[in-house]
Amino acid sequence: MEAPLRAEEIEKVLTGQRLGRKIHYFSALDSTNLYARKLAEEGALEGEVVVAESQTGGKGRLGRSWVSPPNLNLYLSVILRPKLLPLHAPQITLMAAVALAETVQCFIPLPAEIKWPNDILVGGKKLAGILTESSCDPGKILFVILGIGVNLNFPKELMPEAIRESATSIMALTGKPVNRSEFTLRLIQNLEQCYGELEEGGFSFLAERWAGFFRLKGKRVRVQMLEQAILGKAMGIDIDGALILEDERGVSQRIIAGEVIPMES
Ligand code: BTN
Repeated sequence: MEAPLRAEEIEKVLTGQRLGRKIHYFSALDSTNLYARKLAEEGALEGEVVVAESQTGGKGRLGRSWVSPPNLNLYLSVILRPKLLPLHAPQITLMAAVALAETVQCFIPLPAEIKWPNDILVGGKKLAGILTESSCDPGKILFVILGIGVNLNFPKELMPEAIRESATSIMALTGKPVNRSEFTLRLIQNLEQCYGELEEGGFSFLAERWAGFFRLKGKRVRVQMLEQAILGKAMGIDIDGALILEDERGVSQRIIAGEVIPMES
């Protein structure tokens, strides 16, 4: 049986920080994002964190579910109250992707990759995902729930067949279990740092580091959107987090949401 996450000890180390001073820890929840939303609506402060050892209704992007077995991985949501225009809310996902990729890189020697907009891949397989949900008034973000799921000590054999080929975990990559509390602490510290930089200088402060993890630059991709797909070359992102795609006529397109699928070149 895996050691439980040491939420109280993590909280102690983070005393005086903005993120993680208060950690709401559960052995099981439906979804940490749902619980964090409820807390935020009741007035929780910026930086409060919700962590669960398992989720019965873990949510992924595009209405998918997030496989959340007990005591193996990390399921975490942070309440943020950024002073950003709603238009710039996607920058929170980009900022979190940098913090998450840098954290992953502290625990594995293989290169981590950001798959726009919200996945962290290693060796082409999904290690972690980000689900950002915002609540806005006209012209103002009330709060953002930044939800992060990371496969830490998830053995391949326990992964459901549907994800066994496409997913990975830190343990599957290194052959050794990772200390989940250490990973969680490092992640919250990196988020604090990157969030501060975003606030101070805007996304341009983080853009270069983001680009360092974007390994599809210049590669041919298919972007699947709700009703259509576009083929082209992935060029990078703009300041608002849109993917810049050079389509087959050589025209630059801004993609706001979609699934990027690399193509054989
Ligand atoms: C994705 O890649 O589709 C996003 C996955 C996000 C999963 C995390 S786990 C913690 C938080 N709570 C949820 O219900 N979802 C996010």
